[in-house]
Amino acid sequence: MSAARDIRPRQDDLGVQTQHISTSPSASFHSPSSHSSALARTIPVINAKHLKPFATTDIKVLLLENVNQAGRDMLQQQGYQVEFLKSSLPEDQLIEKIRDVHVIGIRSKTKLTERVLKEAKNLIVIGCFCIGTNQVDLQCAAAQGVAVFNSPFSNSRSVAELVIGEIIALARQLGDRSNEMHNGTWNKVSNKCWEIRGKTLGIIGYGHIGAQLSVLAEAMSMSVIYFDVLNMMSLGTAHQVESLDQLLAQADFITCHVPELPETKGMIGKAQFEKMKTGSYLINASRGTVVDIPALVEAMRSGRVAGAALDVYPNEPAGNGDYFTNDLNEWATDLRSLKNLILTPHIGGSTEEAQSAIGVEVAQALTQYVNEGTTLGAVNLPEVTLRSLTMDEPNHCRLTFLLLFLQVVYIHKNIPGVLRKVNEIIGDHNVDKQMTDSRGDVAYLMADISNVNAAVIKDLYERFESLSSRIMTRILY
Ligand SMILES: NC(=O)c1ccc[n+]([C@@H]2O[C@H](COP(=O)([O-])OP(=O)(O)OC[C@H]3O[C@@H](n4cnc5c(N)ncnc54)[C@H](O)[C@@H]3O)[C@@H](O)[C@H]2O)c1
Repeated sequence: MSAARDIRPRQDDLGVQTQHISTSPSASFHSPSSHSSALARTIPVINAKHLKPFATTDIKVLLLENVNQAGRDMLQQQGYQVEFLKSSLPEDQLIEKIRDVHVIGIRSKTKLTERVLKEAKNLIVIGCFCIGTNQVDLQCAAAQGVAVFNSPFSNSRSVAELVIGEIIALARQLGDRSNEMHNGTWNKVSNKCWEIRGKTLGIIGYGHIGAQLSVLAEAMSMSVIYFDVLNMMSLGTAHQVESLDQLLAQADFITCHVPELPETKGMIGKAQFEKMKTGSYLINASRGTVVDIPALVEAMRSGRVAGAALDVYPNEPAGNGDYFTNDLNEWATDLRSLKNLILTPHIGGSTEEAQSAIGVEVAQALTQYVNEGTTLGAVNLPEVTLRSLTMDEPNHCRLTFLLLFLQVVYIHKNIPGVLRKVNEIIGDHNVDKQMTDSRGDVAYLMADISNVNAAVIKDLYERFESLSSRIMTRILY
C-alpha cells in the first residue's frame, strides 16, 4: 500500500517570483497577472467568468458503481481526469485509490467510512449519485473539509407516475386479473371496479412528490385534497385540509409522501384505518415505517380497505433474491396472501430518466463546488454561494475557506475569535462580496477579492493556512 501523497500546495510553490502560485491540489496555478491566455483557452465568450481552481486536467475523479453516463460525460467535458469503474471496491482497494483523487462519485454500496476518509488526503468533494448519504461518514468528511452532495429529488416524477399507475391498477383490480390470467384463469368482472374520474385523492405530505402527483391526478379529473404539517401552496384546484382525520374521512384513495421521522412512524395505523371510508385504497411509496402493516392486513381482511399498494417496507434486503419472507418481516406471508394488494420492491424512483437526472444533478453540484466553491445542496457543510464574477472583473480571485470551530465545549468562546481573525485578514484587501455560514462545528467562508496579484494571493493563502482553526483553503480565479 503506498503512503498518502499530499498534492495540496507546498509552501515553495507559492513563491511569487516563479509566477506559479499553487493554492490548489494542482502543482501549477497561474498568477492572476499572467493568466489571460489560460482564460482565453477555458472561458466561452459570455460575460460570466468561469472560475477555475487550477488546470482542470489535474482534477482526478474516481467514479464507482456504474455512475450514469450523463454524469460521467459532464465531468469529462470539464476536462477532469475521470476513471470509471462499474462496481464498488473492497475497502483496502478503495483506500489505495482514494488517496490520489480530488473527487469521488459513488452510489449506495461504497462505504466511505472514517478509516477510508482519513486516507483521502487530496479529496475535496464526494458525489453520492443516489438519494441516501448514510454510506458516507458525513461528520468525518465535514471535519476534513470534504463536501458531500446527493440528489434527493431527481426521481420525484418517477414516483408520482408510479402512484398514478397504481391508483388505476387498484381501482380496476389489475394485479389480480393479471395473476389469474398468468395462472390460466379467465375471470371477467366489473363488480367493485371503478373509474378514477371524480374520485377524491388524499395526499399526505405535499412536497416534491405529493405536489407532482396532485397535478397528474387533477389531469385525470380526480379531486385532490392534501394534508401537510406546513402550509403549502396548492397547485391547480387541490386544497389543503386542516387535519389528517379530515383527509382520511374524505378521500377514496390515500397516498403517503412524508419523510421518515419519529412523528411519521406508524402514522397510518389501526385508529387511522378506522377513520377511512369503507372500500377506500391506500398507497405507500414513502418509507416503510409510515404504515403499520399488521393494521393494514387487518383493515384489508375486514373490507375497510379495498386495495393497497406498497413499494417500501420496514426491512428491505440489500440485494435482489428470494428475500421477501417472514425472516425479513414477520408479516410477509400475510401480505402475500391478500387480494388486490400490489407489492413492489422499492422501485418508485427506479427509472432510466431518474438515473440520468441524478447523474446530471450530482455532476453539476460537483463541478460547481470544484470550480466555483458553491456549496448549495451540500448535505454536510453550510450552504454558501456568491453570484458569479463577470468578465469585467479580471483581477479578482475567489477565496473559499473552511474552518473548524475548535472543540465544541469552547464553541461560544471560539466563534467570535475565529471570525474576527478571518475578517482581520481579508479586511486588509478589497473584498467585493463575502458570505459565511456555519453548520455544527464547521464554518465556510466565500469571498471575492478584487485587485489581486500574485503577491496578494500568496499573502492571503499563507495567512489563512496559518490559522489554527483552518480545515481547507482554496483560491479560485
Ligand atoms: N419509493 C421510492 O422509490 C421513493 C423515491 C423517492 C422518495 N421517496 C420517499 O418519498 C417521501 C417523500 O419524498 P419527497 O421528495 O416528496 O419529500 P419532500 O421533503 O419534498 O416532501 C415531504 C413533505 O412531507 C411533509 N411532512 C413532513 N412531516 C409530515 C407529517 N407528520 N404530516 C404531514 N406532512 C408531513 C413535509 O412538510 C413535506 O412537504 C420520502 O419519504 C422519500 O424518502 C421514495
